[in-house]
Amino acid sequence: MKRIAIVLVVTTAGLAITYASGLIPKTAIDSVSNSLHQSVNPGVLSAAHANLTDNCQACHTPLTGVDTVKCILCHANNDSILQRQPTAFHASVGTCKECHQEHRGLDANLSEMDHSLLTSIGLKVLEDAEPGSEEQAARVGLADKLKFANAPHDRITLQESVLDCKSCHSNDDQHQGLFGNDCAQCHATDRWMIPEYKHPSTSSTDCNQCHQAPPSHYMMHFKMISAKVAGKPHARVEQCHQCHQTTSWNDIKRAGWYKHH
Ligand code: HEC
Ligand code: HEC
Ligand code: HEC
Ligand code: HEC
Ligand code: HEC
Ligand code: HEC
Ligand code: HEC
Repeated sequence: MKRIAIVLVVTTAGLAITYASGLIPKTAIDSVSNSLHQSVNPGVLSAAHANLTDNCQACHTPLTGVDTVKCILCHANNDSILQRQPTAFHASVGTCKECHQEHRGLDANLSEMDHSLLTSIGLKVLEDAEPGSEEQAARVGLADKLKFANAPHDRITLQESVLDCKSCHSNDDQHQGLFGNDCAQCHATDRWMIPEYKHPSTSSTDCNQCHQAPPSHYMMHFKMISAKVAGKPHARVEQCHQCHQTTSWNDIKRAGWYKHH
């Protein structure tokens, strides 16, 4: 492979190759460029972009490759991404292709979250921080953490665990804030389920350490209805275990399935 650079040069006709070294006659290059056109195209586009199949330049810019600006031009009006908490970061992310891979066929999933990429992007942004600024202090702190800390558990990488999960996921919190904001302490980034987690048994009396009662339990409704349904007129709200089980909040001890409207 003597110094032949195969560069992506996109024309309306499709791909051509250029050569950088001048060691090979131009005619030789021309003769292989047609077959390379086929082999260099890495695969069929997704269904969403299928109509761009003959327009490589819609996404690619000669010499530089996939062009983020071109993606943004077509997608700038997608307000729903910016309005949803977990995807609001799109307003300033600056790169697209890592999470939106192309050429994997009509049915391929075009969006795949890559949390560790977010950390890399964040570090890059902080690299330009002014000496003495808050950002610079943050960068030093983060660099130290990435060097010396350990991942909180082995389902998450250290690189991912430095993200501020709550800034994108506080709306997903199932714990009414009782477990704090450091989701990474317990969770991974591929799914919220925690395979090794075993819920305390129904005989536990500590339910209220991890669960908060609904507002109705602090109103008349509690004495008038809930306590009566459960056959525990004197139970206090904090004593969840007197009335509840771990199967479902609506599976009331002694009373069975109960849901009022
Ligand atoms: C809808 C946008 C889009 C269109 C249209 C498109 N591509 Fe791509 N292409 C991408 C993205 C995104 C990547 C990089 C991400 C990846 O690895 O999948 C990529 C990667 C490539 C690569 C690998 C090298 C590189 O730059 O990363 C080649 C070669 C390529 N495309 C060729 C083509 C050709 C040839 C066409 C036209 C037939 C084309 N592409 C049309 C989005 C597009
Ligand atoms: C010429 C305009 C155009 C360009 C350039 C373009 N897209 Fe698209 N994209 C579309 C259209 C049209 C759709 C399908 C309609 C829709 O759902 O919005 C789409 C769909 C998508 C989707 C949603 C797919 C789905 O599952 O519904 C993603 C993600 C996406 N594009 C990302 C990108 C990225 C990343 C790039 C740059 C590599 C890019 N687009 C370049 C027009 C474009
Ligand atoms: C760190 C990963 C990541 C990066 C970088 C990223 N996205 Fe996304 N994007 C996602 C994920 C994940 C979704 C799907 C969110 C969902 O469906 O809940 C998404 C959704 C979208 C959608 C909406 C698709 C739909 O289903 O309606 C578009 C359009 C889009 N991204 C375009 C872009 C563009 C343009 C860029 C570059 C400026 C970009 N994205 C950068 C991860 C990323
Ligand atoms: C900048 C925003 C952002 C940050 C920060 C972030 N995430 Fe995410 N996360 C997303 C997006 C976007 C998705 C794709 C699914 C969606 O749209 O909800 C996702 C998906 C997930 C999922 C999979 C959800 C599912 O049901 O498939 C988990 C679990 C998750 N993140 C955990 C975390 C944890 C733990 C942290 C902190 C270490 C974190 N995330 C940090 C944006 C973020
Ligand atoms: C002290 C540990 C801990 C912390 C911190 C924590 N969680 Fe959880 N979370 C759990 C456990 C344990 C479960 C139950 C997992 C299971 O059933 O597999 C859970 C379950 C969840 C579920 C439901 C999973 C499912 O599909 O049933 C979501 C969503 C969730 N947590 C989001 C969050 C978010 C968002 C944060 C940060 C704001 C957070 N958690 C902080 C321990 C924690
Ligand atoms: C050490 C913490 C802890 C204790 C103690 C605890 N739980 Fe849980 N429980 C969780 C977590 C974490 C989840 C999963 C996240 C979620 O869905 O709230 C959960 C889920 C549940 C669910 C399922 C909720 C749903 O909507 O699917 C019920 C019902 C439940 N617990 C009842 C109880 C009862 C009753 C007790 C006392 C006998 C109890 N729990 C004690 C942590 C605890
Ligand atoms: C004296 C009995 C009793 C006690 C104590 C009690 N509950 Fe309930 N709870 C009920 C009954 C009965 C229902 C069924 C619906 C209703 O009456 O509101 C219920 C419903 C619920 C629901 C479901 C609400 C809905 O909208 O479906 C949750 C969640 C719940 N309780 C959590 C708790 C927690 C957490 C505690 C402890 C901090 C607790 N409860 C203490 C009797 C009780």
